[in-house]
Amino acid sequence: MSSVLEARGLHKIYIGGDGSELHVLKGVSLVVQPGESVAITGASGSGKSTLLHLLGGLDWPTAGEVYLDGRPLSQLADTELAEARNRKIGFIFQFHHLLRELSALENIKMPLLIRGTDRREARAQGEAMLRAVGLEERRDQKPPQLSGGELQRVAVARALVSEPVVLLADEPTGNLDNQSAERLHQLLFRLVGERRLALVVVTHNRELAARADRVLRLHDGALQPEVLAEAVHDGL
Ligand SMILES: Nc1ncnc2c1ncn2[C@@H]1O[C@H](COP(=O)(O)OP(=O)(O)OP(=O)(O)O)[C@@H](O)[C@H]1O
Ligand SMILES: [Mg+2]
Repeated sequence: MSSVLEARGLHKIYIGGDGSELHVLKGVSLVVQPGESVAITGASGSGKSTLLHLLGGLDWPTAGEVYLDGRPLSQLADTELAEARNRKIGFIFQFHHLLRELSALENIKMPLLIRGTDRREARAQGEAMLRAVGLEERRDQKPPQLSGGELQRVAVARALVSEPVVLLADEPTGNLDNQSAERLHQLLFRLVGERRLALVVVTHNRELAARADRVLRLHDGALQPEVLAEAVHDGL
């Protein structure tokens, strides 16, 4: 089986304002198959968001390569990279990044409009996605009028509306109460299962991590297998 997403030997070094170097990722490799879910844990500042950004082609590694459907991202032209991000990758950000002036439905439709989908078609797909996340009644509300859980569901719908093959989610339930988080986990894994998506999810939530096929911990710039039973004692 060929991998849909692969990282080989990723390094990321940030250069601070004073010229100092911060070596955040020190040779991270990861292979994700279609339909496979991988949870990534790790302390604050360990580089989890950095890694997701590299996997999604939102930032470049200092060394190493990311392959999407076997193609190295660094060798794609700008337009091809934009196209790959729009069509193949769904991204749920640590902070939802929805547009405040747009309604729930308009936010969800946005990736389709960006790729040039016919307006009527975009509306139909957006509404279907709104139903899939159970937000039909909130379609015309704007982000300031939505609850935290609803905002995250809009973010899930927006990430999945363009039928990506990879879903990258950064703490999708980080600021939700237990019950809302649990509901969002169920929704996320139902959609991932139905669509055979490859999921890489950064989370501190034990219940979410336990649903993933594999759990890895980012520590000192490298990924290592996480043993969840022990993580309970670490207060994961
Ligand atoms: N653009 C940047 N320039 C310089 N340093 C950065 C930049 N982005 C992140 N960093 C630093 O790199 C380290 C890793 O950041 P990152 O956001 O990946 O951590 P994280 O594991 O996602 O943390 P959290 O759990 O708090 O979200 C941190 O020390 C951060 O301050
Ligand atoms: Mg982060």
